Formats: sequence, C-alpha cells, structure tokens
Amino acid sequence: MTKGLVLTCDPRFVSELKKELQLPKEHYELLVLAPGVLLAAAEDVGAPIFLRHRFPVEHVAEVGHTLMDLPLLVAAATPLLAAAESGTKVAVQCRIMDEACPYRAAEVKVALDEVLLTRGLLPETKHPQIVLSVLIAKQRAYLGLSSPVQNLSRWNGGAAHYGRPSGALSRAEHKLEEAFEVFNIELAAAAQVLDLGAAPGGWTSFLLKRGHYVTAVDTGELARELLTHPRLIYHRQNAWHIKPLADTFDLITCDMGREASGTVEVLLHLASSLKSGGALLMTVKFMGHEPLPLIRECRRKLEQRYRLQAGRHLWHNREEVTLYLVRHT
Ligand SMILES: C[S@@+](CC[C@H](N)C(=O)[O-])C[C@H]1O[C@@H](n2cnc3c(N)ncnc32)[C@H](O)[C@@H]1O
Repeated sequence: MTKGLVLTCDPRFVSELKKELQLPKEHYELLVLAPGVLLAAAEDVGAPIFLRHRFPVEHVAEVGHTLMDLPLLVAAATPLLAAAESGTKVAVQCRIMDEACPYRAAEVKVALDEVLLTRGLLPETKHPQIVLSVLIAKQRAYLGLSSPVQNLSRWNGGAAHYGRPSGALSRAEHKLEEAFEVFNIELAAAAQVLDLGAAPGGWTSFLLKRGHYVTAVDTGELARELLTHPRLIYHRQNAWHIKPLADTFDLITCDMGREASGTVEVLLHLASSLKSGGALLMTVKFMGHEPLPLIRECRRKLEQRYRLQAGRHLWHNREEVTLYLVRHT
C-alpha cells in the first residue's frame, strides 16, 4: 500500500498535468510539494503526456534540523531496501526542494550508497534495476523504492542528461535520443528514415550514427559536416513538395518549425510513404496555442492514418510535446 505518488512535470505545465489527471472520472487529491512536483493521493495515475516522472511513496520521514539528523533519514530509508535482492543495481535519486533542508542531495546519496554496499546491493547511477527515491520538500522526506519503468524514466525526476557537449546540433540530437529511450523505439540498423524539418541536422546526425539511411528534408541548410555522409539523401525543399513514395520508410521523424495544423496536413499527405506498422515521431509545437486542445485536435486528425502510442513532454522539449504514432492504414 503506497502513501500516494510523487509526480514531476515541467513547472510551466503544472496546470496541463492537473487537467490531464482530471480527464478520467476519478478525482485526484493533489498537493503541490515544490514547483513542478505534486503529491497525488492515488495508487495509479497512468502516464499523462505532461507527466515526466513519478514514484510511489512508501514512507514519509522527518528531515530534522541539522546535518547531525541525516542518520535518522538514512534509518528511515533503509527498511525500504529489504525488498531488493542482493546484487541488484540500485540508484539513489535524491532531490532537495526545500531551502531549509540541513543537508545536500550529494550527502544523502553518499550515506545511502554506503547502506547499499553493506546490504550487498550495487550503487548504480545510469542503468539501475531499482531506484531508491528521496524527495525532500516542505520539511518532509518522501521515500520510495520502484523500478525505472514504474517511474516512467531512469533519470532523477525525469531529467535526462546525456552528458555530451551541448551545441545546437547535439541539443536537438538529445531530444530524439530521449524520445527513442522514453518510447522504447527499436529499429533495425539499416532502417530507412524520412526526417522532415531536419536542419541544422541534430536528428539526422543521431539517426546516421545509429546506422540508419536518412532522407532529410528542410527548406534550410543542413550542417556541412553531414552533407557527404554516404547514407544521407538531402532534399533542400518544402516538405509539402515531397512526393509520397509508397511503403518506403520504417520511421518518419518530424520536427518542423511550423504551426501544428500544417505539420499534421503534411504528415497525412506523406503517410503512404511509411511502411504499414511503421512509426512516426513528431513534435507538436504550441506556438501560442493552448497545449491540450491543440494536442487533442492533432491526434484527432492524425488518427485517419496513424494510431497514437504515447506522448510525452520530454526533458528536452520546451514549448512542444513529442508524440509517437504508428501507421495503421
Ligand atoms: C526546430 S528546427 C529542426 C531541428 C532539427 N530537428 C535538428 O535536429 O537539427 C525546425 C526546422 O523546420 C524547418 N521547416 C519549417 N517548415 C518547413 C517545411 N514546410 N518544409 C521543410 N522544412 C521546414 C525549418 O527550416 C527548421 O530548420
């Protein structure tokens, strides 16, 4: 029996998350713990688009007043680890969202990593089997033990840090990398991909590095270092002017910087280019529109040719969400 769920979203989109949570008939009691962090008195809230991370709370502990109180928090968290078998890779993910907290996240992690070792568990940061979550807010510590799948993300609070240089190209690259990870997209190495709105080329670069064949389309210029790649075809033109090539692509990616309604029309026009069952990964850019009605309208139109699998406001999304669909007709 959990004591609720800690839900994390982008602080700018809390009201969207709250609206999504109220879409089904159930009503959730929601307490705001910190900017973008809510406590829901519920066992399960599904996976709304604006929910980036969640964890079930198993224990709520006092935080104490000085660093000397840290052992009390460690003692409160330790019994949760009884459920983990020896040899399990465990990540301690601590977020401190309370200025009055007397200790830092790194200190909590060091102390709990020591406990892991004494219990035959393996501290692991990047690819844990189990996560021990510690969220400190409003003078309380919310503690839970869960899997990355239950949490919707293997990252602390859903903050996906791929840790490579962050120029414009690699920032865009990380957005597609995160979409592949979150939606669990697996493509054969030599898959054919149509990348719409490809410039300057972050997504194209990511796809080429994974061994795919990429047809990139943009009215703008692709980064020069990509142009000579042997698996790249580049059309410098408006996506509207691309002729559909029947059943050619395994994946269409679309990050076109334009009104979502126009993007949807282009994707309906090009749907027959996708092999049946092929996937579409696209961003829906808000451009001043209210996000949820816009997403709903895009989905309604896209369903003529595609079925929505999932959607997420990714860590790398700003004023947009990423949708994952498959072609059905
Ligand atoms: C956000 S950027 C794409 C970034 C890209 N995904 C990357 O990884 O570098 C949006 C791009 O959409 C392109 N675009 C907008 N409307 C287009 C259209 N009708 N046809 C082709 N490209 C378009 C713009 O030229 C711009 O390069």
